[in-house]
Amino acid sequence: MIRWGVSCMNHDASICVMSDSTVLFASHTERYSGIKNDPALNWSIINDCLKFGQPDEIHYYENPILKTARRLYAGQGFKFDNLKKELKKFGVNAKVYWGTHHKSHAAAGFFTSPFNEAAIVTIDAIGEFDTTSIWHGHKDGGIFKKLSSEKYPKSLGLFYSAMTDRVGLKANEDEYILMGMSGYGDPFRFYYDVHRIYHSSHNFHRGCKDFLPDLKEEDYFDLAAATQYVYEIALERLLEKTRRTTKQKNLVLMGGCALNCLANRLASKYFDNTWIMPNPGDAGSSLGAILAHTKKQAEWEGPYLGHEIKGEYPTDELFNELKNTGIAGVANGKAEFGPRALGNRSLLADPRGSQMKDVVNKIKKRQEFRPFAPVILQEDVSEYFDVGKNFESPYMQYIVRCKQPEDFPAIVHIDGTSRVQTVTKDQHRGLYELLTLWKKHTGCPMLLNTSLNIKGKPIVNNKTDAKQFEDKYGVKVF
Ligand SMILES: [Fe+2]
Repeated sequence: MIRWGVSCMNHDASICVMSDSTVLFASHTERYSGIKNDPALNWSIINDCLKFGQPDEIHYYENPILKTARRLYAGQGFKFDNLKKELKKFGVNAKVYWGTHHKSHAAAGFFTSPFNEAAIVTIDAIGEFDTTSIWHGHKDGGIFKKLSSEKYPKSLGLFYSAMTDRVGLKANEDEYILMGMSGYGDPFRFYYDVHRIYHSSHNFHRGCKDFLPDLKEEDYFDLAAATQYVYEIALERLLEKTRRTTKQKNLVLMGGCALNCLANRLASKYFDNTWIMPNPGDAGSSLGAILAHTKKQAEWEGPYLGHEIKGEYPTDELFNELKNTGIAGVANGKAEFGPRALGNRSLLADPRGSQMKDVVNKIKKRQEFRPFAPVILQEDVSEYFDVGKNFESPYMQYIVRCKQPEDFPAIVHIDGTSRVQTVTKDQHRGLYELLTLWKKHTGCPMLLNTSLNIKGKPIVNNKTDAKQFEDKYGVKVF
């Protein structure tokens, strides 16, 4: 039985292909079209999916009738997302099942998690009507049900997106930049204003452009800090309620808001164990749409599920280039499913000293206040970061304190923290071996790891994209 899960027609379209419970493929359409956050399907991704044959069933990530109703309620006019019609353009014709938006999020998390039983919390901006929901899952007991939800227009995700828009950034895309800005601001300066509007009846779906109208650009960092603070308080309340009402020790956190890696640390205050699927936003719901239907554990080896560039992992080539120039790109193996490059479509660099941040920033052309993330051997993480020996963050989902921030300015935020990726041999053999070689040579078990993409474009997908990157920036890609 070949099943396709599809998330499209809104933003961040993606397709997942499963054979029974095995995930064969999952990727974002943007990687094929070159259009960031592309909502549409395209021939190139469809052709990669068709390599596994025509699908027997297709699962859409939400309910188009409920979605249409919510759009009408929100005054957005009539629009019906007809996946069957959309797929016909590509000669794909199979029965289409509909899920619901939050169910797909919850299933993507729970049925990839290592837990037999867990509480599941889903937080996002907007889908159908639910904007936050609490679920209980028990695999052996055959339980997967929603316990409660908060509904549109109240929405923690819309609040965060509206504030992103308020500081001149792009809503639904640049929320991570607002999060990064928050480290530079004073959370208390605008706290009461932000708290008041969040708890008012204001509909953040319409933005909040007129909020604090006298705000100057230099105030944006304080607004970002207050936004993050109000978000974290609301998240804590939700987590506390979830723990109290479900009495579960395990948490699955999903939805676009689970990408807020600064706030994700709060989960450990209320739960013993937390799982965040590496692609918790709407793109990950292509996988979730299938899992919500089958209600069975997914068999997968992690997020390396996209377009494949065949060949051995170029460990030696990368090591030599890093040794000689301090910077090298890698485009090898299957592309990551999710927003982070985790070693298969990465730009790697020497994280030591003060030079490298500027070198990589010149290529990435990012705002200077944003540092890059480190990838480190798991066994060394507690030596460099303020975490326990068993701490793991294989998908760059947590922010932790660096013990020697002055030695690694390229990968440390102004507040002394880093969004760290840890690697074990089982998780990524090639990357693990590269870091081991690098450590032997330099004494440092860590590299800077940022996504391999041309400014304004999605992450590199195939060999042609990789060559374009190499030509444009003069950095070798292996
Ligand atoms: Fe969502």
